[in-house]
Amino acid sequence: MVCLGNICRSPTAHGVFQHLIRQQGLQHRVTVDSAGTGNWHIGEAPDPRTVLAASRRGYDLTGLTARQVTHQDYHRFDYLLAMDESNLAALEANRPADSDATIQLLLDYTRRGDKAVPDPYYKGARGFEIVLDLIEEASAGLLEFLVRQHSLA
Ligand code: 4NP
Repeated sequence: MVCLGNICRSPTAHGVFQHLIRQQGLQHRVTVDSAGTGNWHIGEAPDPRTVLAASRRGYDLTGLTARQVTHQDYHRFDYLLAMDESNLAALEANRPADSDATIQLLLDYTRRGDKAVPDPYYKGARGFEIVLDLIEEASAGLLEFLVRQHSLA
């Protein structure tokens, strides 16, 4: 799960999808992680507004630490899922030639026309709820796809 800072959207996607994977007993089949394309917040915990909004819906984001996408991520992970078009472009621009990773938008796993998870950093509390709504919807779609595609069930 990849956004810009790895303190708002991608930690939310990390926590929500990890929760879903554990709920389905698939934690030994699917590894979930998150990172940012930018380097401003490396080493920081998720934004307190992100942690609070997530905890209200039962997701525990404490213990996550922001990091930047690395060269290794392109080999370690099968799917690199970006929160918006600019993060998608950054992921594609830095892709090593020998990486087979699938690079997509997370909201490709929804039927929504607008495929961006809007950056909530400079917005009010409602922005963080929208992030959660979109990510919950996409996580359900992603799980269904992965189970089918990789015979996980
Ligand atoms: P994120 O949100 O990409 O969802 O983690 C942001 C956090 C910080 C900044 C931008 C986006 N920033 O510019 O510092």
